[in-house]
Amino acid sequence: MSASRAVPAPGVAPRATAPRLKQFAAAAVWWVLSIGIVVAIWEITAALGLINTIILPPPHEFVAEMSPSVTWDDVGSLAAAAGLPVILKGILTVEDALLAVEHGAAGIVVSNHGGRQLDGVAATLDALPEVVDAVGGRIEVLVDGGIRRGTDVLKALALGARAAMAGRAVAFALAAGGEEGVRRVLSLLQDEIRLGLGLLGCTSPDAVGRSHVERAYDLPA
Ligand SMILES: Cc1cc2nc3c(=O)[nH]c(=O)nc-3n(C[C@H](O)[C@H](O)[C@H](O)COP(=O)(O)O)c2cc1C
Repeated sequence: MSASRAVPAPGVAPRATAPRLKQFAAAAVWWVLSIGIVVAIWEITAALGLINTIILPPPHEFVAEMSPSVTWDDVGSLAAAAGLPVILKGILTVEDALLAVEHGAAGIVVSNHGGRQLDGVAATLDALPEVVDAVGGRIEVLVDGGIRRGTDVLKALALGARAAMAGRAVAFALAAGGEEGVRRVLSLLQDEIRLGLGLLGCTSPDAVGRSHVERAYDLPA
């Protein structure tokens, strides 16, 4: 560090010398211009209607992407054309679960798509037990939504899911740490599942069952 830029001793206010005032004024001008340019770009983008297109499509455009012509019969046609097992994601009710079984789905994912579509929709862990009971083992039942740690996976298994899926946990790990971040999150989840199983006295995920959880609203008043 050069002598002219030495940091003043604690408690000693720097003197307002001419070079310092010039430096301060230059920094202030730089910030005002930078913020001005960002605001100007935002305003021009908004004026051209690009913000809605790029960032947030209006609801009617989103709905327009969903074809009302799709019916339950299409599930069977899709499976036949694909020659692959079809798993339906977004099931939250017994009625839809039974329709999925009836129309040849190989499995369902009890999901509210991360609660990002319809505000106030049921939590997936609340919907899971009755869907599992209705399906009665005829097709696979998976679940997602709010899986952040190994114990969340164990709760899902305890309530009858065959497997749990994670969205944001993995997406955020990817954003923060790329491939290594995703590996880290998956390994953390794996370690937490192992630890949780051990603490529950279970030697495998298959051994986790309803007796391992108690839902608050099932408890006697
Ligand atoms: C940024 C983002 C985009 C998503 N896009 C879709 C989508 O296009 N189709 C879909 O079925 N689910 C979509 N989802 C929902 C996920 O597939 C998944 O159901 C949800 O993230 C699970 O909840 P979690 O994030 O709490 O784990 C999206 C989720 C996020 C966070």
